[in-house]
Amino acid sequence: MGKVKSRNDTPADTKEAGILHAEKPLSEDERDLTLRPQNIAEFLGQSKIKENLAVFIAATKARRESLDHLFLIGPPGLGKTTLAQVVAHELGVDFKVTSAPALDKPKDLVGVLTTMTKNSVFFIDEIHRLKPAIEEMLYIAMEDYELDWIIGQGPGARTMRLPIPRFTLIGATTKAGNVSSPLVSRFGITCRFSFYELADMEAILRRSAGILNVRIENDAASLLATSSRGTPRVANRLLRRMRDFAQVKQSRSITLDIVENGLVQLEIDSLGLERYDREILRMIIERYNGGPVGAETLAISVGETVETLEDYYEPYLIQAGLIQRTPRGRIVTALAYTHLNIAQKHTSGALF
Ligand SMILES: Nc1ncnc2c1ncn2[C@@H]1O[C@H](COP(=O)(O)OP(=O)(O)OP(=O)(O)O)[C@@H](O)[C@H]1O
Ligand SMILES: [Mg+2]
Repeated sequence: MGKVKSRNDTPADTKEAGILHAEKPLSEDERDLTLRPQNIAEFLGQSKIKENLAVFIAATKARRESLDHLFLIGPPGLGKTTLAQVVAHELGVDFKVTSAPALDKPKDLVGVLTTMTKNSVFFIDEIHRLKPAIEEMLYIAMEDYELDWIIGQGPGARTMRLPIPRFTLIGATTKAGNVSSPLVSRFGITCRFSFYELADMEAILRRSAGILNVRIENDAASLLATSSRGTPRVANRLLRRMRDFAQVKQSRSITLDIVENGLVQLEIDSLGLERYDREILRMIIERYNGGPVGAETLAISVGETVETLEDYYEPYLIQAGLIQRTPRGRIVTALAYTHLNIAQKHTSGALF
């Protein structure tokens, strides 16, 4: 129970906030919470998801029922945790949050579900990491709003069914493929996040700049939007860095010049790639002759975990058209060669 977090406590943001500047992680966390949208109007972009959810939420509220269980899929930093909070807010219900690794024993799950209020939202992050025993309890909870609870031990042990209030489970994952099909089939609504469009990224940056009370010029916001890999968390992080650069230069606003120099300083290129992204591409090209190379091998080669490679780096590299996944492994595209300014070799080894 102690592992269940209250509204606004976001482990992922805590993890992210200190990456570029470790000096003031706490204050950055605090500020990021103020940047997090609270209601559907503040949640920018992802219009298809929002339109559908708005209908389902309105209908559910009119019937005074609990919303169907909701499954959120997408790469890190696109707003899954944020959307879960927004949904609870729009429904006007309580919100409890935990992540699958924190649900270690059946009693952890029982502890949360027996203390829920009617129709409230229970958010489980990283739901692909649930233990099988917990997952099975969750099936019954999701379907019948009951819990199997074993009393006693050995031959005398009995299973009791505990009724629990109706609730909405919101499960989030960066790895939909790792979620078991019985669990997937129990979610009534599935939302797949896509990387944000440029216009939405600009709007997010403008909103955040307003909250942080910093002025940003139009061309500077556009460039920052293209460099934020379609990800609000990255946009907010870069915006804070640019504010630092502007402050040091005693500039009253974030100008194009500040963003251009700032991105060079942070080693972020015109496609929004970070140093690691380029290392991954270079590794596939130079060591594996453009691929195919398996994820494990590649992760070891660049000194990253497979998780980080697959969850954070790869989705954007694929979306940007720089690598492709094939059954035999990852390959780089011609665009990767052009972007890194490396001549592409024929398999024969001849340059063209
Ligand atoms: N649609 C949005 N509009 C404005 N800001 C957003 C939006 N989505 C996310 N953000 C901002 O990006 C930050 C990261 O979002 P969030 O923590 O919800 O991502 P996530 O998908 O849960 O990531 P992870 O997979 O790492 O848990 C939020 O703190 C919020 O400030
Ligand atoms: Mg999250």
